[in-house]
Amino acid sequence: MDDLPEKKKPSKPKKEQSGSSVSRRDFLKISGVTAAVPLVAQASALALKEAEPTVEGPGKVAVTLNVNGKKLSAQLEPRVTLLDALRDQFELTGAKRVCDRGTCGACTVLLDGKAVYSCSQLAIDVQGREITTVEALGEPGKLHPVQQAFVDNDAQQCGFCTPGFVVATKAFLDRYPNPTPEQIKHGLGGNFCRCGTYAGIRAAVMQVAGKKGA
Ligand code: FES
Ligand code: FES
Repeated sequence: MDDLPEKKKPSKPKKEQSGSSVSRRDFLKISGVTAAVPLVAQASALALKEAEPTVEGPGKVAVTLNVNGKKLSAQLEPRVTLLDALRDQFELTGAKRVCDRGTCGACTVLLDGKAVYSCSQLAIDVQGREITTVEALGEPGKLHPVQQAFVDNDAQQCGFCTPGFVVATKAFLDRYPNPTPEQIKHGLGGNFCRCGTYAGIRAAVMQVAGKKGA
């Protein structure tokens, strides 16, 4: 006779667990996390609040600029550009307003020694930076070498682009004191002269750099 399959012994019933499967230790862990959530949320909300930018305007706000070594203050709407602040508030009209959209270079000034289009900077944003305009480079009877070189090389006609070119040239030569003609072409490529005095301008740059035959 075939052996009957061994009858499976009924497994011992598991001890009934009382009510919940959460141990006291687990309970304490969970309670700790739950209790911490509001604190974390509060900290995040605080961090978000701190990261929020301060909103200025649209009315006038106090703005102080460091221009040519002097502190100049005015009440300006935050939308006012550095160029308009210089020209309309501080009577520094060397930087010219031509395209007013960052393409011609007539408004060039130095910002911490670097040539920038002042029509493309908000005055409120450049507080605390060192701004130098063409007015600080030289004066009648005591021209800056770049200004003198522009005169010597007949590098202007109407002269409207000239202040921007002079400032851009100074920044360029500070960086490349011994430039090649190709570097001059590229280095001053952000400034336009509608009268087309480029040959004179390049000769002026070469003169300051101490080179002959632009
Ligand atoms: S006026 Fe600023 S780049 Fe032309
Ligand atoms: S000299 Fe006239 S725009 Fe340059």
